[in-house]
Amino acid sequence: MKLVKLIANLGYGSRKDVAQLFRAGRITDLQGEVLYADDVVPHAHIRVDDEPLDPPPGLVLMMHKPLGVTCSRKDPGRVVYDLLPPRYGVRTPALSSVGRLDRDTTGLLLFTDDGALLHRIIAPKAQVTKVYEATLAQDLRGDEAALFGSGTLLLESEKEPLAPAQLEVLGPRQARLSVTEGRYHQVRRMFAATGNHVEALRRIAVGALTLGDLPPGAWRALEADEVALIFRAAE
Ligand code: URA
Repeated sequence: MKLVKLIANLGYGSRKDVAQLFRAGRITDLQGEVLYADDVVPHAHIRVDDEPLDPPPGLVLMMHKPLGVTCSRKDPGRVVYDLLPPRYGVRTPALSSVGRLDRDTTGLLLFTDDGALLHRIIAPKAQVTKVYEATLAQDLRGDEAALFGSGTLLLESEKEPLAPAQLEVLGPRQARLSVTEGRYHQVRRMFAATGNHVEALRRIAVGALTLGDLPPGAWRALEADEVALIFRAAE
């Protein structure tokens, strides 16, 4: 792909804008030599205003989603894309969140511009485990683990029962729940089905990938070995 198109696709501006960056000598190699639109240069060697060029397509990010931001492109309030650099919102192919977390759910949220990878993560067949920690309004009854694990729990207004999910009790009102599906408000509705209410919900892992020490609101690009963790069993 021509450098102009590659750089424009990464959100640096229209092709015309990027042609202007070349003319102004703002696109250089590692040694500071000015590059021209027809040059063939490894991605990692390209600098714009002395800064490394944004990562090429195939980008995977993880974010520690904070409270109160929505997983949508447009919303009257703050959206998760507002937490990323503005260029990331106008890349081609587009960067999308991998599934969604509710506005009031915090924790591990993935983004990618790789449609096939996104599908591999969210397809129910893929059986990627999502692990949540829930704080509940009332004490657990004691039968939740058996019910959630049964594969027979039918959520209100659904026709298919939920696949078995694993519940670990962490305290009277605290539980860790591992699910392989991603139905609408799934975790909140599962506890609602037991007469309880989720007061706080945090996703702590997707497969064996965890947030580590990423603070709320922060994000970072994932390395290939970290992407592979998504498809491993949660620890
Ligand atoms: N289940 C929910 O109810 N909410 C989320 O955000 C994720 C899973």
